[in-house]
Amino acid sequence: MVERTWDIVKKGAHISDLHSPLEMMGLEKGVRDLVIDIALTRKRSTGKYVHGDRLFFTSEGLRWATPQVAAEHCADRLRRQLVIDATCGQGGQVLSFADTCDDVIGVDIDPLNCLVSILNCLSMKKRNVTIINGDCLDPDVIEFSKDGCAIFSDPARPPGAAEREMDEIDPDPRKIQKAYEKRSSGMCFEIPPYISLDKIEMVSEVEFISLDGRVNRLNIYTGDLITTERSAVVLPAKAVIKGPQKKIDGLDEGKLSAGTLVYEIDPTIVRAGLEHAFASEMGVPPEYIHLDGRRCLLASSDRINSPFLKQCYMVKAANVSEEDLISVLKKLGAGKLTLRYGVDPKDYWKVRKNIENKLSGNNKFQLFKGNNYLILEIA
Ligand SMILES: C[S@@+](CC[C@H](N)C(=O)[O-])C[C@H]1O[C@@H](n2cnc3c(N)ncnc32)[C@H](O)[C@@H]1O
Repeated sequence: MVERTWDIVKKGAHISDLHSPLEMMGLEKGVRDLVIDIALTRKRSTGKYVHGDRLFFTSEGLRWATPQVAAEHCADRLRRQLVIDATCGQGGQVLSFADTCDDVIGVDIDPLNCLVSILNCLSMKKRNVTIINGDCLDPDVIEFSKDGCAIFSDPARPPGAAEREMDEIDPDPRKIQKAYEKRSSGMCFEIPPYISLDKIEMVSEVEFISLDGRVNRLNIYTGDLITTERSAVVLPAKAVIKGPQKKIDGLDEGKLSAGTLVYEIDPTIVRAGLEHAFASEMGVPPEYIHLDGRRCLLASSDRINSPFLKQCYMVKAANVSEEDLISVLKKLGAGKLTLRYGVDPKDYWKVRKNIENKLSGNNKFQLFKGNNYLILEIA
């Protein structure tokens, strides 16, 4: 006997139109929402995972999942017999550990996350993974650790980019370190990149990772995973600079002359305090112009090339005051500008148009700002 026929596929329905058929099937609202959320999220997961079309995530789970390139980088560093991902979420990082370690244990306090992790491991045929639903700080869970194992944790953190305290991160990496230190020989904690380094008391290697030119992750390695004091990693290029951090005196922007080449450098170099190490690797003097917390330029008389260099510019005018800005831009024949300083995104076009409306030239420049304006042209 035919109970029902569904013609909504033929009608070209959207996944979110499935609410009423699911309701007719007698599914509760929470379950309906979950099914639809997972179905809708699958498409987006290809932005983070090469095989995203074979994975399962809720929208929240995907939001917090470690992107594949970052997960692979970390898994490469944690190669060993056993790794425990103490806060595995929906398994984004676990999938990469399964390729580099003999055995992987993923722990999560949330049963739904555990279920989704299992689905992902089944789908990707990762047969060396055990998923545990529990609190990673519970002694019964800690019992699963073995001598020499590595511990990884990407803890839950409150949303937002404001500077955080370590004890706002849940579970606190210091508690995990204490709980597993007897058996683990090295740990890696992914902590919010905007946390102040003064707040990290662990003896550790601090690694900043950028993804597509933006700081994406701050990893703290302890024990036998420490290879240096600081490291900066550019992904997906897989470029690494390591060394001790060293404070350097920035170059006064007023000393820049027209015609000099300057490079916008990857922000991980500055966050890690590796400006000196990078300049010496490139074989150029460490002449950096720190414009604001986010942007830093490296001056160089020669053409240089590195994944840590985002863009090369030629200086057209430097140390230009607010009062002189329009007249200097007019002299340079400026017509269009890209603003490369801390303008509130909601005001960007208003500020840009306000300047451009006073110009009538054809040249396009990039406007940076430190103490004063810096007018650059893409070289
Ligand atoms: C940022 S997510 C991890 C995402 C994961 N790296 C991935 O790639 O999918 C943090 C996870 O920690 C879990 N969690 C929070 N406290 C925990 C605890 N005490 N024990 C185990 N898991 C915990 C949360 O349920 C959440 O799924």
